[in-house]
Amino acid sequence: MARIIAIVNQKGGVGKTTTTINLAAWLSDFGQRVLVVDFDPQGNASSGLGVDYKNISKGVYEVLIDENTKIHEAIRSFKPNFHILPATPDLAGATVDLVEKENREFKLAQNLVEVNDLYDYILIDNPPSLGLLTINGLVAADEVLIPVQCEYYALEGLSQLLNTIGLIKEHLKPELKILGAVMTMYDSRNKLSNDVFNELYKFFPEKIFRSVIPRNVRVAEAPSHGLPIKDYDPQSVGANAYKRLAQEILVSQLVTKNK
Ligand SMILES: Nc1ncnc2c1ncn2[C@@H]1O[C@H](COP(=O)(O)OP(=O)(O)O)[C@@H](O)[C@H]1O
Ligand SMILES: [Mg+2]
Repeated sequence: MARIIAIVNQKGGVGKTTTTINLAAWLSDFGQRVLVVDFDPQGNASSGLGVDYKNISKGVYEVLIDENTKIHEAIRSFKPNFHILPATPDLAGATVDLVEKENREFKLAQNLVEVNDLYDYILIDNPPSLGLLTINGLVAADEVLIPVQCEYYALEGLSQLLNTIGLIKEHLKPELKILGAVMTMYDSRNKLSNDVFNELYKFFPEKIFRSVIPRNVRVAEAPSHGLPIKDYDPQSVGANAYKRLAQEILVSQLVTKNK
Protein backbone atom coordinates (compact mmCIF):
# COMPACT_ATOMS: atom_id res chain seq x y z
CA MET A 1 0.00 0.00 0.00
CA ALA A 2 1.27 3.42 -0.93
CA ARG A 3 1.91 6.12 1.60
CA ILE A 4 -0.10 9.04 0.25
CA ILE A 5 1.12 12.55 1.11
CA ALA A 6 -0.73 15.75 0.18
CA ILE A 7 1.51 18.81 -0.15
CA VAL A 8 -0.74 21.67 0.93
CA ASN A 9 -0.64 25.39 1.65
CA GLN A 10 -3.30 27.73 0.33
CA LYS A 11 -0.67 30.40 -0.26
CA GLY A 12 0.87 30.41 -3.71
CA GLY A 13 4.60 30.48 -4.29
CA VAL A 14 5.64 28.83 -1.02
CA GLY A 15 7.38 25.84 -2.62
CA LYS A 16 4.63 23.19 -2.81
CA THR A 17 5.40 22.16 -6.38
CA THR A 18 9.16 22.39 -5.92
CA THR A 19 8.91 20.22 -2.81
CA THR A 20 6.65 17.68 -4.52
CA ILE A 21 8.92 17.22 -7.54
CA ASN A 22 12.17 17.11 -5.63
CA LEU A 23 10.98 14.92 -2.80
CA ALA A 24 9.54 12.51 -5.38
CA ALA A 25 12.82 12.49 -7.28
CA TRP A 26 14.86 11.55 -4.22
CA LEU A 27 12.37 8.99 -2.95
CA SER A 28 12.56 7.26 -6.32
CA ASP A 29 16.35 7.48 -6.22
CA PHE A 30 16.17 5.64 -2.88
CA GLY A 31 14.37 2.80 -4.63
CA GLN A 32 10.79 3.79 -3.85
CA ARG A 33 8.10 3.54 -6.53
CA VAL A 34 6.66 7.04 -6.71
CA LEU A 35 3.64 8.69 -8.33
CA VAL A 36 3.26 12.48 -8.43
CA VAL A 37 -0.31 13.70 -8.85
CA ASP A 38 -0.37 17.19 -10.33
CA PHE A 39 -3.55 18.57 -8.80
CA ASP A 40 -3.06 22.23 -9.72
CA PRO A 41 -4.64 23.53 -12.96
CA GLN A 42 -1.46 25.57 -13.47
CA GLY A 43 0.27 22.27 -14.19
CA ASN A 44 3.65 23.28 -12.79
CA ALA A 45 4.48 19.82 -11.49
CA SER A 46 3.78 18.39 -14.94
CA SER A 47 5.89 20.94 -16.80
CA GLY A 48 8.61 20.69 -14.15
CA LEU A 49 8.85 17.00 -15.06
CA GLY A 50 8.92 17.71 -18.76
CA VAL A 51 5.25 17.04 -19.55
CA ASP A 52 3.66 19.65 -21.82
CA TYR A 53 -0.11 19.71 -21.35
CA LYS A 54 -0.52 20.49 -25.05
CA ASN A 55 0.68 16.98 -25.81
CA ILE A 56 -1.67 15.13 -23.51
CA SER A 57 -5.23 14.12 -24.17
CA LYS A 58 -5.91 12.65 -20.74
CA GLY A 59 -4.90 14.07 -17.39
CA VAL A 60 -6.19 14.11 -13.86
CA TYR A 61 -9.23 16.16 -14.94
CA GLU A 62 -10.53 13.40 -17.24
CA VAL A 63 -9.81 10.81 -14.54
CA LEU A 64 -11.95 12.73 -12.04
CA ILE A 65 -14.82 13.72 -14.29
CA ASP A 66 -15.12 11.06 -16.99
CA GLU A 67 -16.05 7.66 -15.60
CA ASN A 68 -14.76 6.00 -18.76
CA THR A 69 -11.22 7.29 -18.28
CA LYS A 70 -9.18 4.95 -16.12
CA ILE A 71 -6.33 6.38 -14.10
CA HIS A 72 -3.82 4.06 -15.82
CA GLU A 73 -4.52 5.74 -19.16
CA ALA A 74 -3.42 9.14 -17.88
CA ILE A 75 -0.28 8.19 -15.93
CA ARG A 76 3.06 8.88 -17.62
CA SER A 77 6.50 7.66 -16.82
CA PHE A 78 9.25 10.15 -15.98
CA LYS A 79 11.60 7.33 -15.02
CA PRO A 80 10.82 3.62 -14.61
CA ASN A 81 9.85 3.99 -10.93
CA PHE A 82 8.84 7.66 -11.03
CA HIS A 83 5.48 8.42 -12.62
CA ILE A 84 3.28 11.48 -13.04
CA LEU A 85 -0.45 11.94 -13.36
CA PRO A 86 -0.40 15.29 -15.18
CA ALA A 87 -2.75 18.26 -15.01
CA THR A 88 -4.17 20.30 -17.85
CA PRO A 89 -5.78 23.76 -17.57
CA ASP A 90 -9.19 21.98 -17.80
CA LEU A 91 -8.70 21.02 -14.18
CA ALA A 92 -9.74 24.55 -13.23
CA GLY A 93 -13.26 23.61 -14.29
CA ALA A 94 -13.35 20.47 -12.16
CA THR A 95 -14.61 22.35 -9.11
CA VAL A 96 -17.75 23.35 -11.01
CA ASP A 97 -18.18 19.94 -12.64
CA LEU A 98 -17.81 18.13 -9.33
CA VAL A 99 -20.46 20.13 -7.49
CA GLU A 100 -23.17 18.07 -9.18
CA LYS A 101 -21.58 14.73 -8.39
CA GLU A 102 -22.19 12.40 -5.54
CA ASN A 103 -19.22 11.88 -3.22
CA ARG A 104 -17.53 14.84 -4.84
CA GLU A 105 -14.92 15.08 -2.06
CA PHE A 106 -13.84 11.47 -2.64
CA LYS A 107 -13.19 11.45 -6.39
CA LEU A 108 -9.41 11.52 -6.24
CA ALA A 109 -9.34 9.03 -3.36
CA GLN A 110 -11.58 6.59 -5.28
CA ASN A 111 -9.34 6.76 -8.34
CA LEU A 112 -6.10 6.35 -6.41
CA VAL A 113 -7.38 3.07 -4.97
CA GLU A 114 -6.80 1.58 -8.43
CA VAL A 115 -3.05 2.23 -8.32
CA ASN A 116 -2.39 2.16 -4.61
CA ASP A 117 -0.49 -1.13 -4.68
CA LEU A 118 1.72 -0.07 -7.60
CA TYR A 119 3.52 2.62 -5.58
CA ASP A 120 5.32 3.12 -2.31
CA TYR A 121 4.67 6.86 -2.31
CA ILE A 122 1.98 8.99 -3.93
CA LEU A 123 2.62 12.74 -3.61
CA ILE A 124 -0.24 15.12 -4.41
CA ASP A 125 0.71 18.67 -5.40
CA ASN A 126 -2.28 20.86 -4.52
CA PRO A 127 -3.40 24.24 -5.86
CA PRO A 128 -3.08 27.44 -3.79
CA SER A 129 -6.57 27.38 -2.30
CA LEU A 130 -8.65 25.41 0.16
CA GLY A 131 -11.35 24.67 -2.41
CA LEU A 132 -12.80 21.39 -3.60
CA LEU A 133 -9.62 20.25 -5.34
CA THR A 134 -7.53 20.60 -2.20
CA ILE A 135 -10.29 18.92 -0.20
CA ASN A 136 -10.11 16.00 -2.63
CA GLY A 137 -6.33 16.00 -2.21
CA LEU A 138 -6.60 15.90 1.59
CA VAL A 139 -9.29 13.21 1.61
CA ALA A 140 -7.15 11.05 -0.69
CA ALA A 141 -4.09 11.43 1.57
CA ASP A 142 -2.86 9.69 4.69
CA GLU A 143 -0.63 12.59 5.67
CA VAL A 144 -0.21 16.31 5.00
CA LEU A 145 3.12 18.00 4.34
CA ILE A 146 3.04 21.80 4.66
CA PRO A 147 5.78 23.85 3.00
CA VAL A 148 6.23 27.21 4.71
CA GLN A 149 8.20 29.92 3.00
CA CYS A 150 10.61 31.78 5.25
CA GLU A 151 9.15 35.26 4.85
CA TYR A 152 7.32 37.83 6.87
CA TYR A 153 3.77 36.68 6.18
CA ALA A 154 4.63 32.98 6.34
CA LEU A 155 2.37 32.12 9.23
CA GLU A 156 -0.61 33.99 7.91
CA GLY A 157 -3.28 31.53 6.94
CA LEU A 158 -1.81 28.60 8.87
CA SER A 159 -4.63 28.68 11.43
CA GLN A 160 -7.14 28.50 8.62
CA LEU A 161 -5.25 25.60 7.05
CA LEU A 162 -5.12 23.69 10.34
CA ASN A 163 -8.80 24.40 10.83
CA THR A 164 -9.61 22.94 7.40
CA ILE A 165 -7.52 19.86 8.15
CA GLY A 166 -9.42 19.52 11.45
CA LEU A 167 -12.78 19.68 9.68
CA ILE A 168 -11.70 17.07 7.17
CA LYS A 169 -10.61 14.76 9.98
CA GLU A 170 -13.91 15.31 11.72
CA HIS A 171 -16.22 14.80 8.75
CA LEU A 172 -14.45 13.07 5.88
CA LYS A 173 -11.15 11.40 6.77
CA PRO A 174 -10.60 10.62 10.45
CA GLU A 175 -7.19 8.96 9.82
CA LEU A 176 -5.64 12.05 8.20
CA LYS A 177 -2.41 13.06 9.97
CA ILE A 178 -0.10 16.02 9.78
CA LEU A 179 3.29 14.74 8.68
CA GLY A 180 4.91 18.10 9.34
CA ALA A 181 5.98 21.50 8.10
CA VAL A 182 9.06 22.09 6.00
CA MET A 183 10.70 25.49 5.80
CA THR A 184 11.48 26.57 2.25
CA MET A 185 13.54 29.32 0.64
CA TYR A 186 15.53 29.84 3.81
CA ASP A 187 18.05 32.65 3.63
CA SER A 188 20.71 32.53 6.33
CA ARG A 189 21.56 36.20 5.81
CA ASN A 190 18.06 37.08 6.78
CA LYS A 191 17.21 37.20 10.49
CA LEU A 192 13.56 36.79 9.56
CA SER A 193 14.10 33.11 8.78
CA ASN A 194 14.86 32.41 12.44
CA ASP A 195 11.82 34.34 13.56
CA VAL A 196 9.70 32.25 11.20
CA PHE A 197 11.11 29.08 12.72
CA ASN A 198 10.25 30.23 16.24
CA GLU A 199 6.73 31.19 15.26
CA LEU A 200 6.22 28.02 13.26
CA TYR A 201 7.27 25.99 16.27
CA LYS A 202 4.20 27.24 18.10
CA PHE A 203 2.01 25.70 15.40
CA PHE A 204 3.91 22.47 14.93
CA PRO A 205 5.94 21.50 17.98
CA GLU A 206 7.72 18.20 17.15
CA LYS A 207 6.56 18.45 13.57
CA ILE A 208 9.01 20.74 11.80
CA PHE A 209 11.45 18.88 9.58
CA ARG A 210 15.09 19.37 10.49
CA SER A 211 15.96 19.65 6.83
CA VAL A 212 15.47 23.26 5.88
CA ILE A 213 15.38 24.06 2.18
CA PRO A 214 17.64 27.03 1.38
CA ARG A 215 16.90 29.61 -1.25
CA ASN A 216 18.99 28.37 -4.17
CA VAL A 217 18.83 29.70 -7.70
CA ARG A 218 19.61 26.26 -9.16
CA VAL A 219 16.38 24.95 -7.62
CA ALA A 220 14.45 27.70 -9.39
CA GLU A 221 16.16 26.99 -12.73
CA ALA A 222 15.61 23.23 -12.81
CA PRO A 223 11.88 23.22 -13.83
CA SER A 224 12.57 25.15 -17.02
CA HIS A 225 14.72 22.16 -18.04
CA GLY A 226 11.94 19.74 -17.09
CA LEU A 227 14.15 18.21 -14.40
CA PRO A 228 14.22 17.76 -10.63
CA ILE A 229 17.19 19.48 -8.98
CA LYS A 230 18.76 16.10 -8.27
CA ASP A 231 19.17 15.56 -12.03
CA TYR A 232 19.80 19.18 -12.98
CA ASP A 233 22.51 19.95 -10.43
CA PRO A 234 23.12 17.03 -8.06
CA GLN A 235 25.87 18.86 -6.12
CA SER A 236 23.83 21.96 -5.37
CA VAL A 237 22.80 22.87 -1.83
CA GLY A 238 19.18 22.63 -2.94
CA ALA A 239 19.60 19.05 -4.17
CA ASN A 240 21.24 18.09 -0.88
CA ALA A 241 18.54 19.71 1.21
CA TYR A 242 15.81 17.79 -0.60
CA LYS A 243 17.82 14.60 -0.25
CA ARG A 244 17.88 15.04 3.52
CA LEU A 245 14.17 15.78 3.57
CA ALA A 246 13.49 12.57 1.64
CA GLN A 247 15.62 10.64 4.15
CA GLU A 248 13.70 12.14 7.07
CA ILE A 249 10.42 11.14 5.48
CA LEU A 250 11.63 7.60 4.83
CA VAL A 251 12.69 7.32 8.46
CA SER A 252 9.38 8.74 9.71
CA GLN A 253 7.66 5.83 8.02
CA LEU A 254 9.79 3.31 9.91
CA VAL A 255 8.98 5.08 13.16
CA THR A 256 5.23 5.02 12.40
CA LYS A 257 5.37 1.34 11.45
CA ASN A 258 7.09 0.34 14.68
CA LYS A 259 4.66 2.21 16.91
N1 LIG B 1 14.51 26.64 -2.55
C1 LIG B 1 14.23 27.51 -3.54
N2 LIG B 1 15.15 28.38 -3.97
C2 LIG B 1 14.88 29.26 -4.96
N3 LIG B 1 13.70 29.34 -5.58
C3 LIG B 1 12.73 28.50 -5.19
C4 LIG B 1 12.94 27.53 -4.15
N4 LIG B 1 11.78 26.84 -3.99
C5 LIG B 1 10.91 27.34 -4.88
N5 LIG B 1 11.46 28.33 -5.60
C6 LIG B 1 10.83 29.11 -6.66
O1 LIG B 1 9.77 29.86 -6.07
C7 LIG B 1 8.63 29.87 -6.93
C8 LIG B 1 7.43 29.26 -6.22
O2 LIG B 1 7.69 27.89 -5.94
P1 LIG B 1 6.60 26.77 -6.20
O3 LIG B 1 7.18 25.47 -5.80
O4 LIG B 1 6.07 26.87 -7.59
O5 LIG B 1 5.47 27.21 -5.17
P2 LIG B 1 3.93 26.78 -5.06
O6 LIG B 1 3.79 25.47 -5.73
O7 LIG B 1 3.66 26.72 -3.60
O8 LIG B 1 3.14 27.86 -5.74
C9 LIG B 1 9.03 29.10 -8.18
O9 LIG B 1 9.46 30.01 -9.15
C10 LIG B 1 10.18 28.24 -7.71
O10 LIG B 1 11.08 27.92 -8.75
MG1 LIG C 1 2.46 24.93 -7.29
